[in-house]
Amino acid sequence: MVVDNKKGRVCVTGGTGFLGSWTIKRLLEDGYYVNTTTRIDPERKRDISFLTNLPGASERLQIFNADLDKPETFAVAIEGCTGVFHMAHPLDFAEKEEEDVKIKRVTTGLQGILQACADSKTVRRVVYTSSISAAAFSTTAGSGLIDENCWTDVDFIRSLKTFGGQYIVTKTLAEKAAIDYAEKLGLDLVSVIPTWTTGPFICPHMPDSVYVSMALIFGDKAHYQHVKDTSLIHVDDVARAHIHLFEYPEAKGRYICSAVEFTIEELCDLISARYPEYQMPNPESWKDIIPVKFSGLSTKKLEETGFKYKNGLAEMFDGAIKCCKEKGLL
Ligand SMILES: NC(=O)c1ccc[n+]([C@@H]2O[C@H](COP(=O)([O-])OP(=O)(O)OC[C@H]3O[C@@H](n4cnc5c(N)ncnc54)[C@H](OP(=O)(O)O)[C@@H]3O)[C@@H](O)[C@H]2O)c1
Repeated sequence: MVVDNKKGRVCVTGGTGFLGSWTIKRLLEDGYYVNTTTRIDPERKRDISFLTNLPGASERLQIFNADLDKPETFAVAIEGCTGVFHMAHPLDFAEKEEEDVKIKRVTTGLQGILQACADSKTVRRVVYTSSISAAAFSTTAGSGLIDENCWTDVDFIRSLKTFGGQYIVTKTLAEKAAIDYAEKLGLDLVSVIPTWTTGPFICPHMPDSVYVSMALIFGDKAHYQHVKDTSLIHVDDVARAHIHLFEYPEAKGRYICSAVEFTIEELCDLISARYPEYQMPNPESWKDIIPVKFSGLSTKKLEETGFKYKNGLAEMFDGAIKCCKEKGLL
């Protein structure tokens, strides 16, 4: 691997996650020096060999412990970096904790991270990982496309008491806080707004979003609502979009990042054609399900920066299925 010393050192928070670990892999392949944060593990019981064994990791990856509940812990990982990719976020779809606790965690964590970026005097841009959840449930989009001007209406989401509601609210408030704090600190912050993300994974656990994307294969009817009328993006395209927006000098504001929109029937056809061994459910089983729609998204702003998606649905499902099989998850 040829290392381009001009690429410099960047920090990825949430390095053990689905997207965080894949982004580290991509950054190392691109020649970057990478600092990453993982949650505090005083007894060092956690196996992070999937990170330390990455090509280039022994020379160019440094791992630090940090927790959003202890915002000051991120500073040492950020010191000396030119960029920060802030991806750490508590997912907790089971909603074991109160919404207020999570909002406090992500916003105080963000404050600590952005303050450390400002104090470092070396960070030239923060790339913040938001989510389509922060834009898609907007009451201002009307019947038009969802674009970067749209913000989810958190009161509306709270009133629905729906699956993932706390996540949607937390991501919306966190992105607003990130933009607000960055402005106050005079930091250059760009938000990436990915839709559901799937594909291969190097982390040992089954990522929640990969599991949801494979609801038809796992026969998990509870998630048919999430694949009925929606969009997906390959994890490598999300990682590449983050790096592209870090490197693209004129990047500014928010960027929706979504590769393919599809219906559940189209997804069924694709899986049946490529993987006839998986019995697809009868269309009757989803007939009356109301979809959680992540479609009608405008991706023009990202494409206008010259970014190109490299993967379609076939690559996403080939990657996800291969990894699940290799890890004994399917
Ligand atoms: N996957 C998607 O479809 C999708 C779509 C749009 C946006 N996103 C965003 O992308 C980012 C990564 O998501 P993901 O799918 O990769 O989820 P993930 O696999 O659950 O990764 C989340 C990461 O955040 C870390 N984290 C959680 N709580 C923390 C805390 N209190 N302090 C420090 N770190 C903490 C986790 O550490 P542990 O490993 O210790 O739990 C993990 O490294 C998130 O911001 C998410 O909102 C994801």
